Amino acid sequence: MAKQNNSDISKRVRNIPPGTSVESYLIHGRHFTDKWDFRHHIIPPISSSVTYRLDKTERGARGFQEYASGDAHRTKPIYIYDRLDEPTRGMLEDELANVEGGEFCVAFSTGMAAISAALGVLLNAGDELVSHKTLYGCTYSLFTNWYPRLNIKTNLLDLRRPNDLKAAITDKTRAVYFESPVNPTLELIDIGEVRKIVDEVNKKRAADRQVYIVVDNTFATPYCQRPLELGAHVVVHSLTKNIGGYGTDMGGAVIGPAELEGQVLLYRKDFGAALAPKSAWPILVYGLPTLPLRLKQQMQTAEQVAQFLNGHPKVAKVAYPGLSTHPQLALAKKQMRTPDGQFAPGNMIYFETVEKDPGQPHNNIKVVDWIAKNAYTLTLAVSLGQLRTLIENPGAMTHAAVPPEKRLEGGITPNGIRLSIGVESADDIIRDLEKALAQAD
Ligand SMILES: Cc1ncc(COP(=O)(O)O)c(C=O)c1O
Repeated sequence: MAKQNNSDISKRVRNIPPGTSVESYLIHGRHFTDKWDFRHHIIPPISSSVTYRLDKTERGARGFQEYASGDAHRTKPIYIYDRLDEPTRGMLEDELANVEGGEFCVAFSTGMAAISAALGVLLNAGDELVSHKTLYGCTYSLFTNWYPRLNIKTNLLDLRRPNDLKAAITDKTRAVYFESPVNPTLELIDIGEVRKIVDEVNKKRAADRQVYIVVDNTFATPYCQRPLELGAHVVVHSLTKNIGGYGTDMGGAVIGPAELEGQVLLYRKDFGAALAPKSAWPILVYGLPTLPLRLKQQMQTAEQVAQFLNGHPKVAKVAYPGLSTHPQLALAKKQMRTPDGQFAPGNMIYFETVEKDPGQPHNNIKVVDWIAKNAYTLTLAVSLGQLRTLIENPGAMTHAAVPPEKRLEGGITPNGIRLSIGVESADDIIRDLEKALAQAD
């Protein structure tokens, strides 16, 4: 299989030495930004100013005009007000756009705000959205509780079956949305295959009726997968997770082609939910520079933990894209790669406990509750991508918004457990899991 090699980020970023790896770029950035010169600082400073001094009315008027027309010039912005644009957040946006390979990034206060904005600019009342049926619970709730109120229909199906996608796209469809890997089941969607189908549709459509592919890359991060290179048009992130990395700040990002930048900025200006500079700063200063280090360690540990679970008599099934038993291993190897081409199956694991009555499981609760009270290296908590290993029951927690029968259809079984692997020693995590699984009958 041909290895991707996109490790030389100098091809995308001006003024950095040829051959610079993504790892080094995430540590050093560009030393300065066109938006704000901080060349003498080692650490980018936090800008904390809600409003900006304008030297004349004309400058303020021009700034407002650019934003209102969806034509803001972000390389030389006129700073007016934090919600419109702001330099600390701007530096984070530049780095995120560069590592994902997008033409712009707009950052939001949470991942849900970013998802709402990406689809908010693509969909109008009367339009349709096609989505994979298994989704993070709040995304599912957005599509099924809120979009009907806006007269936007969501067609939920199994995007692992390309023919179903072909049949689901109607004249009204404007976006195809999915996570890959999927939260929490770790199924994968073939981004290139989806793109082929969407290209066929787009060939016959006017420029203003094109279908966009939007991929939530929260689980993989651009270190493990770059959907834009694989065929997506837009990437969304919860920066709260792996990219933030420390569990201290929430955030979200939309990354995509230049033609959408003005609209996404306008959406943020008018709907709000801009990422606060005080939250952008830790993601820029701690999260991104340590992303490769953390993920390399977490992937090594995840592999060992997944192997341990796979052979355990109290475990019915394990899903980890790096396991030889993952039904989509070949696809995982095709799309989940570090920028220098190493296989990068991520840090998330989903497993199911053996149950006497799978309809009425109790071992999963026993195992997780034992962990909540007794484990040292595992913590019962939602969210993911932190230094600590986190465990939860998706059916009861993160995916509670999905009706039980839809959860089952989507592979979120009542006995399912989601693990987000941290940076503790693999032996310690496995020892805790061993004791926890011994509680199962
Ligand atoms: C895959 C995925 N996308 C989006 C989100 C939403 O992110 P946030 O909590 O930052 O709004 C989450 C949150 O868990 C998630 O797991």
